[in-house]
Amino acid sequence: MKIKWFEEIEKPILGLAPMHQVSKSPLRILCRRAGADAVFSEMIAGEAVIRRIPQAFEMAQFSKQERPIIIQIFGANPESMARAARIIEDEIKPDGIDINFGCPVQKAAKQGFGSCQLKDPEAAAEIVCSIKKALKNTPLSAKMRIPSKDIEETINFVKSIYDAGVKLVSIHARTPTQKYRGLADWKHVYAVKEKFPSLYILGNGDIKSLKDLKEKIGNLDGVLVGRAAKINPQIFIELKSIKR
Ligand SMILES: Cc1cc2nc3c(=O)[nH]c(=O)nc-3n(C[C@H](O)[C@H](O)[C@H](O)COP(=O)(O)O)c2cc1C
Repeated sequence: MKIKWFEEIEKPILGLAPMHQVSKSPLRILCRRAGADAVFSEMIAGEAVIRRIPQAFEMAQFSKQERPIIIQIFGANPESMARAARIIEDEIKPDGIDINFGCPVQKAAKQGFGSCQLKDPEAAAEIVCSIKKALKNTPLSAKMRIPSKDIEETINFVKSIYDAGVKLVSIHARTPTQKYRGLADWKHVYAVKEKFPSLYILGNGDIKSLKDLKEKIGNLDGVLVGRAAKINPQIFIELKSIKR
């Protein structure tokens, strides 16, 4: 079987987080050159992919030097998400496909995607299952926020999507209502890794320096860096020195 993108990387995996209108080719290239091990695309609507809206395909484009690249999709309908994932696999050929279970904006809640899906682990699992069935061999991952301050709720959600077939989960350890207030609570992330040792877990939230990375990496397989990489893609030069 083909080796998955995250199995090839020396740990800790250092990735560029998906950021709407930010994690585009120019930033992704700068981050890869500076030492990011993998880059995520901004979120793309599954519905826009199946309707073949050109903008969605433009958002999914990348160049060879960006690999490994993971394309992130969002949506509420398992069938549409599966069709979108299969189109991306066949026509765009990224290294991975990621599902967004973290977007906290009101528009997302109204349309039933993003962080509101954290409240319904069974429906989320249905989306994972449906995509898994549609994909030939592209690894499937998910990115989530924590559903609440209750660690058991986080573990319960991860269990659902893990049982349904995701191989890697990135966790931004803030609740949806927190938006970007307060600090990410990494205790949730460590607890998930402890509970599911064979699931790849990337922690995310508030990494701004090598010091932060060293303090937060704990038992995890890696991290995603968002806002700090947007301001300074060169941060990966500093971060990658953890591997020496
Ligand atoms: C401008 C902006 C856009 C974002 N867009 C997405 C997105 O499309 N998909 C996603 O999963 N997370 C998105 N996020 C969340 C980030 O991936 C990340 O989880 C969050 O910024 C916390 O990490 P940080 O403290 O390193 O920035 C976005 C964040 C920002 C600041």
